[in-house]
Amino acid sequence: MSLFLALNPSAPDPVFQLTAKYRADPRAQKLDLGVGVFKDVNGRTPVMKAVQQAQALLFETEASKAYEGLSGYAPFNEECIRLVFGDDTDAQRFAALQTPGGAAAVRLLAELTKLARPDATVWISEETWAPHFTIVSAAGLKWKTYRHYDRERGLADFESLTNDLQGAKSGDVILLHGCCQNPTGADLSEQEWNELADILLERNLIPFLDIAYQGFGAGLKEDALSARILARKLPELMLAYSFSKNFGVYRDRVGCAVVMSKDGPAVRLAVESLVVVARGLYSMPPHHGAAVVAEILRSASLKTVWEEELEIMRIQVKETRRTFAEELRTRLGDERFDFMEGQNGMFSLLPVSRDAVELLQERHAIYMPGNGRINLAGMSGPATRQVADALADVIRK
Ligand SMILES: Cc1ncc(COP(=O)(O)O)c(C=O)c1O
Repeated sequence: MSLFLALNPSAPDPVFQLTAKYRADPRAQKLDLGVGVFKDVNGRTPVMKAVQQAQALLFETEASKAYEGLSGYAPFNEECIRLVFGDDTDAQRFAALQTPGGAAAVRLLAELTKLARPDATVWISEETWAPHFTIVSAAGLKWKTYRHYDRERGLADFESLTNDLQGAKSGDVILLHGCCQNPTGADLSEQEWNELADILLERNLIPFLDIAYQGFGAGLKEDALSARILARKLPELMLAYSFSKNFGVYRDRVGCAVVMSKDGPAVRLAVESLVVVARGLYSMPPHHGAAVVAEILRSASLKTVWEEELEIMRIQVKETRRTFAEELRTRLGDERFDFMEGQNGMFSLLPVSRDAVELLQERHAIYMPGNGRINLAGMSGPATRQVADALADVIRK
């Protein structure tokens, strides 16, 4: 009897099914708005110049491929802390561990929670990056959802969020998108982050931030505001960071798990535990992408090149949001898509039915998940008008 015949696999992440369907579509004008990668106005996902230059430098200077160690590349870990929390952090309070992408950072921190507080419930936003649920469950933790999005206005719904968190018990963990909420694009304001920090402190709830789009919202520093406010006001936090998007190193798998505690020995215990978890899951993270990122962040000139490129990407996405809203306003004669202009990051949820999503696929070869999540960073240039035309068509039917 085959070992494998006993298997009963659950459906893979629907986004991969969508990509497979898109790839098989023979129509030349097809567009994949499901996959979360940045595309330039020509529809390409180029290797960033700063990354090319750093790779060239590493090619010349790399002297060894010996093991780096379980916590990854130390200079990379230091730079990650600096990028998020600023230059004047108290090094004793922070520790970071390089991971294979942001997804693995989420997993490691979920495992850490399971070890430290197995009874904790992880609170996840109703609309979120789908693997959050899978990963938190895989770590053996319970989860509940909180509301956070006002569909009518396309804005964060702070009141519902705080109402729902009243159901959390002391010691629970609150998973929050630090910026550019995926999939709604609706972020909290600075004042709301401050108020939320006060609530978390008062109720002894632990923030677990996920940052995967720093630099795509209001700017590099602005997008780190959430993390900096929480780190200032709270005794402890966890942060999963992905470099996939802002360095365009998706397939190189570059991420980082960060812990902060104002209790010195706690940081050491957290890191020692994270290392054990990593050893059990994958041993060590891949070096190349993290070395490239560290090379860029440690060189003033490369960092400038990177910041300028990222700013161009950020502005392109903002511009796509503005044009898209405008094009729809013209076609539909109303302002129902205007909300997208003020949102942040790559994603927004189109307020359309599943039927409309189906029609977009059938009639116009435009692919997106059933909930209407679109990647605005994947539809700049001529694609913006193409999507607006198609959307207006299926809405009018
Ligand atoms: C909110 C969020 N967290 C984490 C990730 C993980 O990114 P990766 O594992 O590719 O670095 C993503 C990727 O889309 C994301 O959107």
